[in-house]
Amino acid sequence: MAAPEPFDAVDVIRTKRDHGELSDGQIDWVVDAYTRGVVADEQMSALAMAILLNGMTRREIARWTDAMIRTGRRMDWSAVDRPTTDKHSTGGVGDKITLPLAPTVAACGAAVPQLSGRGLGHTGGTLDKLESIPGWRASLSADEMLGVLRDTGAVVCAAGDDLAPADKKLYALRDVTGTVEAIPLIASSIMSKKIAEGTGALVLDVKVGSGAFMKDVGSARELAETMVALGTDAGVRTVALLTNMETPLGLTAGNALEVRESVEVLDGGGPDDVVELTVTLAREMLAAAGISAGKDPADALKDGSAMDVWRRMIAAQGGDPSAPLPAARETHTVLAPADGLLAWLDAYQVGVAAWRLGAGRARKDEDVQAAAGVELHAKPGAVVRAGQPLLTLHTDEPARFDRALEALDGGYVVAPAGSRPDLPPLVIDRIG
Ligand code: URA
Repeated sequence: MAAPEPFDAVDVIRTKRDHGELSDGQIDWVVDAYTRGVVADEQMSALAMAILLNGMTRREIARWTDAMIRTGRRMDWSAVDRPTTDKHSTGGVGDKITLPLAPTVAACGAAVPQLSGRGLGHTGGTLDKLESIPGWRASLSADEMLGVLRDTGAVVCAAGDDLAPADKKLYALRDVTGTVEAIPLIASSIMSKKIAEGTGALVLDVKVGSGAFMKDVGSARELAETMVALGTDAGVRTVALLTNMETPLGLTAGNALEVRESVEVLDGGGPDDVVELTVTLAREMLAAAGISAGKDPADALKDGSAMDVWRRMIAAQGGDPSAPLPAARETHTVLAPADGLLAWLDAYQVGVAAWRLGAGRARKDEDVQAAAGVELHAKPGAVVRAGQPLLTLHTDEPARFDRALEALDGGYVVAPAGSRPDLPPLVIDRIG
């Protein structure tokens, strides 16, 4: 006969519902029992909602994170002869930074083992972007990951099913129960995966603004502080930057479009904000890894060494870095309605438009269109002339244009020339 369970799910739910603190034993049990299927989805939904409404103490969050890590395995990079360092973004529109960043940091002397995800809803996913490169493969065995990391200095691939499996199950449940936005649950979800990934240092890019999970600086700071404390307590040198996500990063949102722009950055060009964020995050990653004397990331982008790592990293996963990227069958251009200054271009609305054009998925099992997305011809602060192209929409299915244009309705404002738009800085704050 199976041993009796030491706790009762209803008691655990009642404790949190009534503003109590969960004990270590309750947390360890409920996370493990949910992963085993002993605690039912409806019970975990009730508990997640109680956590969203009543919060958790730092001790509870740390224990919950640790319990999630213990449902799977921890990766080990001790066979790699360089310090490991990684970056995690909380997700935004046009956020392709991992693509130029990982090879840049590798070119400066660190090893970057990055387990990435796919996009859901209006935010893009790194794996979907890289899969637009002909032949590139996201799934690698642990041995293959180690091989790519040792040979090239960077590996970007999908997390295996055995990395924090509790999070996979709980994240899917939160997605359909209105409980994604709970700071203790976001922090433990992200940090359980990053700690299990085994990186020695971690830089968190916590996005703030319309295109991000955190819409205001106060909640972004709370999330960042919680994650930095979790990482530090687990022995991972962790810092966080709060960065602006009111408007898309760079000039593209969509898979192949973003790969093209990333290659421009690796070639020493590309939009200023993408270059600035890549260089800033790369310097933080190197400093967190204890590498201070080597090449500067800005030089690695200019001298071709970051591009060289990129080409080897893509080829090591079956991709052809020289192959032409997929192009959309149809395009539609949106023109500036008046002379003036582009005062506002909303990240969320551009993200939804790209998603509706086919760049993203509404359900986890859907395919994405590699070439779909939105290309920006101007960024907030630019002077524009009536009739000049403002945005180009790309898709393989022209029936998608109407819904994408609806998503963009009211998403950009051309103000009279001479007005001063209120543009937040790209990097808002640093924590850690
Ligand atoms: N990303 C994650 O991995 N988990 C969350 O809860 C939110 C964003």
